[in-house]
Amino acid sequence: MFPAQSIHLKLSEWARKYGDFYSLKMGRDTIIVLSSAKAVKEFLDMRGTSTADRPAAYIPEQVHKGDSLVWGRYGERWKLMRKTVHAILTPASAEETYYIQFAESTQLLYDLLHNPKLHFQHVRRLSASVIFSVLYGKRVPRYESYEATSIFDLLHLEERLFLPGAQLPVDMFPFLKYLPEGPLAPWKKKCKELKEIHQKVFFGSLEQCKSRIDRGESAGCLMEQALERYQKEFGLTWHEIGYIGGTLLEGGVDTSTSILQMLIMILPCYPEVQHKAQEEIDRVVGHDRIPERDDIKNLPYIQAIIKELGRFGPPLPFGVPHAIVRDEEYRGYIVPKGSVVFQNQWGIFHDPETFEDPDQFCPDRYLSTKYGTKPGVDDSFFRDTIIFGSGRRICPGMHIANSSLTINVMNLLWAFAYSKAKDPLTGSEIPIDPTKMSDGIALFPLPFECSIQPRSQKIADLIHKHFIDAIDVFKQYEGALQQEDKEHVAQLRSHLV
Ligand code: HEM
Repeated sequence: MFPAQSIHLKLSEWARKYGDFYSLKMGRDTIIVLSSAKAVKEFLDMRGTSTADRPAAYIPEQVHKGDSLVWGRYGERWKLMRKTVHAILTPASAEETYYIQFAESTQLLYDLLHNPKLHFQHVRRLSASVIFSVLYGKRVPRYESYEATSIFDLLHLEERLFLPGAQLPVDMFPFLKYLPEGPLAPWKKKCKELKEIHQKVFFGSLEQCKSRIDRGESAGCLMEQALERYQKEFGLTWHEIGYIGGTLLEGGVDTSTSILQMLIMILPCYPEVQHKAQEEIDRVVGHDRIPERDDIKNLPYIQAIIKELGRFGPPLPFGVPHAIVRDEEYRGYIVPKGSVVFQNQWGIFHDPETFEDPDQFCPDRYLSTKYGTKPGVDDSFFRDTIIFGSGRRICPGMHIANSSLTINVMNLLWAFAYSKAKDPLTGSEIPIDPTKMSDGIALFPLPFECSIQPRSQKIADLIHKHFIDAIDVFKQYEGALQQEDKEHVAQLRSHLV
């Protein structure tokens, strides 16, 4: 039976018992779990076409009508949508939007400087703002902005609706579809709510892009390019274009948030890692300037931290399930058409046969071997992009994700000292357990308290300066702000200078 809780831990426990390629039965369905880089390469990467489908899932399809890039079935429509995404989300577009990513990162530093207790919210705002700006030319200036709250509400609703086992198994017992809306079929009401949020967030933001194009005031964002060029070229409907933008948002916000929240949780728990990283950044960057994009080349330990974050806490710990379109033979077994395939990232990265002390955060492992594996382990099946999935479904947002992650990891390490918070009554440290994480499709640290202090007055002054300098960039993305957000921004800026 498919586990109902701690899916990634259970799948990994079974991998230790049954190996890196095992199957589960759920009714008539076959589920394949891949828990090594070798199995992922041989089964998913090398059979890209036959493993590019997603499982039939009645509940999500009631919401997106087949037009979700993430959950949509493999076919002509999906191929055109994916082609559009490849055309707009290129390595060059990640470079060109660097200045937005950098400006938003300065707001993260500013927010942490002035209100460090709300670090969870600041990171969420940052991730939402980068993606909204790049896609729709519209930023998210505060966590309370409609765009931020609605995208996080939407993701949590989807998690409760789409997580395997979260609802009655309608795909296994199709008669359940006919249950009336109410206590027996609560998913029907949730689907309606979700559709309404999609309508407002995805299509509302797209309408704004369309109006700007019609007024001749394009902001140069990616969804404008999709509307102006690719909608016609690829013959896409308004609904398909809306879901391209929407699923890019969904794909990008939680995952980017997860890794940065993980960093903030790890640093107080591993002071020696923090010390080593800050010694490196002080040597290369110092306190007289903020890190620049090219600095990363001279920061091997910080590069290792970025890799170790993805290994220690892969944001999608069991990937997004693939489904196979024809019978396949692997290692002497026939895997039947329609089988669902999980890329068990947690199992790959926490395998003690492959990684020394896999549950410890240890960036040094990446200084000893290319993929952080134990010396002597055959790493020929590994690649740097395993956390981004595999085959034809591999994450199309990885260039922008890597770029944004690099800027923020450098900035967060340069700017602040992180330590455990102290209990105000007893003065003793409040413990953080870095192994405690949320338990769903995406992995997050559970809420924790920590102390975040600027590393020097010079750094605090530079954060202020760069935040003020970023206002010119922010203004380009503030044309469509809601009235409350406009007032918030105006009030905040009246105190700056
Ligand atoms: C650290 C950040 C990120 C991680 C770890 C990550 C990881 C993943 C993974 C594991 C998948 C599933 C791939 C598969 O099925 O094999 C995926 C799919 C996807 N990701 Fe990301 N992602 C990240 C950031 C982003 C960003 C920034 C965007 C958008 C700008 C994005 C958009 C998507 C989309 C649209 C899909 C679905 C692709 C498809 O089914 O064809 N992701 N991502």
